Amino acid sequence: MSHVKLINLTKRFDKVEVLKNINLDIKEGEIVSLLGPSGCGKSTTLKIIAGILEPDGGNILFDEKSVNSIPTGKRDASIVFQEYLLFPHMNVFENIEFGLKMKKVNKKDRKIKVEELIDLVKLSGFENKYPSELSGGQQQRVAIARTLAINPKVLLLDEPFSNLDINLRNEMREFVLNLQKKLKITTILVTHDKEEALMMSDKIAVMLNGEIKQFDTPKNLYEKPKTKCVANIFGERNYIRGKIRDNKFISDFIDLDLSYCELLIEGMNNVELMIPQESIKLHSIETEEGTKGKIIKRKYAGEKTYYHVDINELELKSSVANSNFTEGEIVRVEIQTDKVIPFKLND
Ligand SMILES: Nc1ncnc2c1ncn2[C@@H]1O[C@H](COP(=O)(O)OP(=O)(O)OP(=O)(O)O)[C@@H](O)[C@H]1O
Ligand SMILES: [Mg+2]
Repeated sequence: MSHVKLINLTKRFDKVEVLKNINLDIKEGEIVSLLGPSGCGKSTTLKIIAGILEPDGGNILFDEKSVNSIPTGKRDASIVFQEYLLFPHMNVFENIEFGLKMKKVNKKDRKIKVEELIDLVKLSGFENKYPSELSGGQQQRVAIARTLAINPKVLLLDEPFSNLDINLRNEMREFVLNLQKKLKITTILVTHDKEEALMMSDKIAVMLNGEIKQFDTPKNLYEKPKTKCVANIFGERNYIRGKIRDNKFISDFIDLDLSYCELLIEGMNNVELMIPQESIKLHSIETEEGTKGKIIKRKYAGEKTYYHVDINELELKSSVANSNFTEGEIVRVEIQTDKVIPFKLND
């Protein structure tokens, strides 16, 4: 277990500033995700923590001690890459044993440790198989076991599930999460999948263009993003321009009573009100709730259906469980205001 702290990390490749003052504080035993679009600097951050890359500036602390000058092999941080990089000519047992051999652990202790790990990653009976004889999920479990063999204090996972099909991905997420909780190992997970980050993390660092925009719990990030750019990472939302007066949002299209909005800032003249898709409820025209609107688009997605609905020439996106509304249908639109967020314009 280890408490990991990054202080003002910077990194340039050629003349491009890829990391700009990265600060993070990851408590012992926590699982934290780095979430952001391609190229924002996630893998670079992870490689710097692992000691594979050197930062240009800043400090990496494990348990309050700087590890900047400790080489990668001695740092107690192990990384699992997206492509698992198993040794193809070694079987499962030998792959997991490899790091222990490098550390000159004796044969008897190696056997005990490898058997314990094979049990942990549920690969008993596969000891003599070669990587080419394993499924993607099995290979990945070998990669994780191999990484855990050397008892790292910090486990670094770089998009470890992205090569797997959706069912296996869910299974491996669950597996890694259980393992992480059981071993209480400080874990940093790199992902560009928002659902994965929301489901797996104690906290998420949202990264954009080499900066951490918000470091917070999944619930806070989803429900109370501090900026529009963070809000947009977690999915499409609705934005309406207007002003706020006396607990009311006033716009050219609709006025809304914001008495239930937790994040209200009074007297804002120039705001964009963010409305989550799930706060736009649709009802059949016979009901009296809400404003009249017309369904202009419908996308069926199983558990949910995504609708675009027009009210007073304003197009709103809604995601609801009811899949029975049809394109062209006139409905009633209810906008729930407890989860809306006003952002100052140019935010
Ligand atoms: N060795 C390198 N030399 C030059 N530029 C690099 C190098 N490694 C990364 N970069 C650049 O640094 C930026 C950040 O790269 P990084 O690999 O950290 O992104 P990422 O967030 O992991 O993206 P992805 O989700 O695509 O893996 C990118 O613009 C990338 O092109
Ligand atoms: Mg990457």
